[in-house]
Amino acid sequence: MTATVATAAVLGLTLAACGGSGDGGDGGSASGSADQVEVFTWWAAGSEKAGLDALVGVFNEQHPDIEFVNGAVAGGAGSAAKDLLQTRLQAQDPPDTFQAHAGAELQDYIDAAQIEDVSDLYDEFGLTDVFPADLVDRLSTEDGAIYSIPSNIHRANVLWANPTVLEDNGIDPEATYEDLDAWMADLDKLDKAGVTALSVGTTWTQVNLLETVLLADLGPEAYSGLWDGSTDWEGPEVKAALEDFETLMSYTNDDRDGLDWPEATQMVIDGSAAFNVMGDWAVAAFEEQDKALGTDFTAAPVPGTDGVFDFLADSFTLPVGAPHPDGAKAWLETVGSLDGQVAFNKAKGSIPARTDADPADFSEYQQTAIDSFANDTIVSSLAHGAAAPVATLNAISDATSKFTTGASDLAGYQSELAAATQS
Ligand code: GAL
Repeated sequence: MTATVATAAVLGLTLAACGGSGDGGDGGSASGSADQVEVFTWWAAGSEKAGLDALVGVFNEQHPDIEFVNGAVAGGAGSAAKDLLQTRLQAQDPPDTFQAHAGAELQDYIDAAQIEDVSDLYDEFGLTDVFPADLVDRLSTEDGAIYSIPSNIHRANVLWANPTVLEDNGIDPEATYEDLDAWMADLDKLDKAGVTALSVGTTWTQVNLLETVLLADLGPEAYSGLWDGSTDWEGPEVKAALEDFETLMSYTNDDRDGLDWPEATQMVIDGSAAFNVMGDWAVAAFEEQDKALGTDFTAAPVPGTDGVFDFLADSFTLPVGAPHPDGAKAWLETVGSLDGQVAFNKAKGSIPARTDADPADFSEYQQTAIDSFANDTIVSSLAHGAAAPVATLNAISDATSKFTTGASDLAGYQSELAAATQS
């Protein structure tokens, strides 16, 4: 499994609903029977649930005899789900299948022997050649075992803006910013005018912002070096990036710690904030509310990250001891199918992991993501499990929360980040 800088050309990607209910884990039918599947995700509400619902719609068509049991746990980026999942896995009470990020996060489950090798399903479902090789590499171990089936690819470094708010404050909505400094000059202008310049939500969304700031200031190579030990967390470059992060946070809404991503992004949709940095699941929220790209909202790489695709992918697993493995296999078949990927990703805002989907089936924003994924430099997202193990992410999140709530200063923050990545 590798998580280094790669170009999308290397990845070889040309492009790349709802029944049931339940609180999870209650099983119900005989062990091993195929008549139900508990699917554990954090796609519990809003546009994320709409994406899941679309996938369930295809599942119900492909497997009408199997009941979908929704084990979704609310909280963006798995902020609540991942802890609960760990508790269940340790108690030998796994769901039939769960959502996991490609890369370091999946490796955690592999190392803990919590998930099964599903490479035989790749053969059975004809998936061996339908995903980019570099993506499959992030799901695999060196001995050729493959531990999940990917559903989609998201981009984490997107800057969303409300053009009306910008225009009202004398800022050209079509302006592009070469770096964070240029962008911060306009944020300052908005701030002085009494506008929430940049909306953000609770800790994980702040970590999402942080990773894009590190990426913007360090560049893709040194950013990737943060995760393989070749970039010094205690060095002056990281310090300068943290100073930018601190400045950006000073332009954000005071109620941030009480908001998840939908509410923070909604501030831009409603025009109560000018900008928001969020992964491109946000586009589904704009589109769900009939907002048009270019008119009602704009989307661009976070300033300083043009030409870089901050990558993450969701995938689904077969847990060791899943009560309904046949149900899980049926779900995995739908996840990997072309119909499943097209329906899910259209609603979710992501792009298909499969390389044989037709770009024309997707929205204007998604077509830009398809293009960027094919041409940009790819780096791994921190906040979404691609770059670092869950323990590292948790320690970075704790340090970030301390810093943004005023419980540590910048020097303290920097050394806590360094310690987090050394463990
Ligand atoms: C990510 C996940 C996305 C989206 C986002 C916000 O971690 O990969 O699919 O759900 O969290 O919750």
